[in-house]
Amino acid sequence: MNEKNHLDEIDSRVQSLYTRLTELSKRMGGYPVSTDFNYECLYNFLSLPLNNIGDPFEDGTYQVGTHELEKEVVEFFAKLFMAEENNYWGYVTNGGTEGNLYGLYLARELYPKGIVYFSEDTHYSVSKNINFLNMRHIMIKSQHSGEIDYEDLHETLKIHRDVPAIIFANIGTTMKEGKDDIIKIQHILRELRINDKYIHADGALCGSFAMFMQPRPHFNFADGADSIAISGHKFIGSPIPCGVITAKRNLVQRIARSIGYIGTLDTTITGSRNGFTPLLIWYTLQKLGMEGLKQRYIDACKLADYAEQQMKNKDLIVWRNPGALTLFFPEVPDWIKNKWQIATQGVSHLIVMPGLTKQTIDAVIEDIQKQSLDA
Ligand SMILES: Cc1ncc(COP(=O)(O)O)c(C=O)c1O
Repeated sequence: MNEKNHLDEIDSRVQSLYTRLTELSKRMGGYPVSTDFNYECLYNFLSLPLNNIGDPFEDGTYQVGTHELEKEVVEFFAKLFMAEENNYWGYVTNGGTEGNLYGLYLARELYPKGIVYFSEDTHYSVSKNINFLNMRHIMIKSQHSGEIDYEDLHETLKIHRDVPAIIFANIGTTMKEGKDDIIKIQHILRELRINDKYIHADGALCGSFAMFMQPRPHFNFADGADSIAISGHKFIGSPIPCGVITAKRNLVQRIARSIGYIGTLDTTITGSRNGFTPLLIWYTLQKLGMEGLKQRYIDACKLADYAEQQMKNKDLIVWRNPGALTLFFPEVPDWIKNKWQIATQGVSHLIVMPGLTKQTIDAVIEDIQKQSLDA
């Protein structure tokens, strides 16, 4: 094959992949990713060797990065999550999984012999994180809503009162968007006189909008969290997976090491870090502002109300936590899972993220109704 034909073939494969993925992204019903973003104006940054290596709050010798904006992203979320002024820190991660790993890592450094408690509805990556960190752990029962079972948590903690408690709380479980209440959990810990404790909030799914919900879930720093992780590619929207971890600065200082090679502190999990994703998150946050982010949630919630009502109008079984963007229902057959990319684990779910249209919602519901009539 000559050079020109070879280049034409590459172009044609890239073009057909793009066409196929564009079509598929319109049929995204079961995974929590927004599809309404447009970052074309940031295209030029793809020609730079961006790398956010090192601590975003410290200067280093590698300077082709976006630490400046990364810090503003962390500041935005620290403020949103009511962190104590001057006692917060964080960075832009590769996603919720890394943010959760970071929270657990901090907890383990603080309490090497602590036990991690998490509900059975917790994301699968958390068991893997706990294995990486070689931490003792106990799984707690969940309620039907996906929220942790406080009675089981109470009874289990009672048996291990002499061991530091590391609570891994869900602020939106993967399948049902159930939210654990950190204030209730703190109450249990206080009642049992467990003073050595660490609470991490997994807000991968809902962290970016939970502060705007009515009633507001209890999960922020003022409620008692020590660290909070969110995913950036979910509600905010990004073509590249990303996330943000925020934590109390005084806890992070315990693990910081100064590294001569990069001339800064090694406080993050990976060495080289994405310099493009902080720019994406920053750009959306700047465009929206706090009010715009709130409106984004209100609009998505209205669309979820619509989807719930449509299912109820058709006498379909559907459950939804108050104000949630997730609707869950009995498992649907494989052809519906594949057609609409519907995630299933015990139940199936539809997640109403920005970018999903009423037409798509109607088409998914029509298929669910069709199969329920056939059954
Ligand atoms: C509750 C929860 N935690 C953690 C994760 C992992 O986040 P990520 O995919 O951003 O690594 C997810 C992903 O769906 C999730 O739903």
